[in-house]
Amino acid sequence: MLLAIESSCDETSIAILNNSVVLSNIISTQYFHRKYGGVVPELASRAHLQHISELTKQSLVDAKVGMEEMEAIGVTTEPGLIGALIVGSNFAKGLALRYGLPLVPVNHIEGHIFSGFLMQDSAAKIPEFPVITLVVSGGHTAIFLVENFNTYKIIGLTKDDAAGEAFDKIAKLCGLEYPGGPIIDKLAQSGDSKRYDFPRSMLHSGDYDFSFSGLKTSVRYFIQKEFPNGIPTDVLSDIAASVQSAIVDVLVAKTVAAAKEYGVKHIVIAGGVSANSGLRKRMASESARYGIACIAPSMGYCMDNAAMIGYIAEKKFNDSPNIFNHFDYTVSANALRRRTK
Ligand code: KG4
Ligand code: ZN
Repeated sequence: MLLAIESSCDETSIAILNNSVVLSNIISTQYFHRKYGGVVPELASRAHLQHISELTKQSLVDAKVGMEEMEAIGVTTEPGLIGALIVGSNFAKGLALRYGLPLVPVNHIEGHIFSGFLMQDSAAKIPEFPVITLVVSGGHTAIFLVENFNTYKIIGLTKDDAAGEAFDKIAKLCGLEYPGGPIIDKLAQSGDSKRYDFPRSMLHSGDYDFSFSGLKTSVRYFIQKEFPNGIPTDVLSDIAASVQSAIVDVLVAKTVAAAKEYGVKHIVIAGGVSANSGLRKRMASESARYGIACIAPSMGYCMDNAAMIGYIAEKKFNDSPNIFNHFDYTVSANALRRRTK
């Protein structure tokens, strides 16, 4: 049994897993960042510190287990906000020392990559290696070719903004709250996605890389020109639908092209933006055209969560139980890029 800790950005999360079964997965989101229009790193660290201990107790209660039953602790050590990572990893070290447990450091992106394997309710939904995984969140947009739990490589990466970052920044231009991704998603459901033709950067670049900053600039100029006095509410949903469609088109086209090239049977989408209803729908229908199954984690595993960290930590620990007995891990902000305010 393993206790997992995630604190890389603005979610404090504690999970307990036993042989890949999630016994509890508590996620506490720091909603107060909304009023600043983005995550404020210093405030994020303080909030993690304030809540991490209580959340750990609650997670043990939910799972109906005690610390004595744990065999290891898994913790996110990179990438992320440095102060936020330090809170989680130092808390993990303290617990590990107190209970004499090995500590398994986990890369946050690795957690997202394998989140599609968590608690799938039918065997048909368990991804079969190799898979193509699209990790698409506020800090990352990348396509991975995943051979097994130890071997995967990046085959595509954003050159500038992450897709979630584009959603959030464009939402801000439209006068919407942070994080804007879920708000755009909701508005888009009643909007006309063909009303405005926003750019699909790098759609035909012949590789698996992305670029979203041009879309953001194009929306900024469009709003300045067409709606200098504010966007009327009746067109807001059409703008949202058109923006979402521009982002989803590129994500789907590149991911499906990669799946075809590498001959995989399964695509997994992961990360906060994989909660997007347009992306889930389009990825499923487009991949089905080529006999490829698309697997999306349930909503609680799309956003940052400790269950995904625990899942891969358990795999690593079971593979090599004896290599995790030292405590000299440090944290790192930038194995792949993350965004702050
Ligand atoms: O994975 P996550 O919780 O944190 C990071 O690692 O960044 O992802 C957060 C991102 C935010 O940019 C948020 O706007 C976006 O995921 N997001 C969405 C949706 N839900 C969350 N974007 C589009 N549609 C959604 N439904
Ligand atoms: Zn994340």
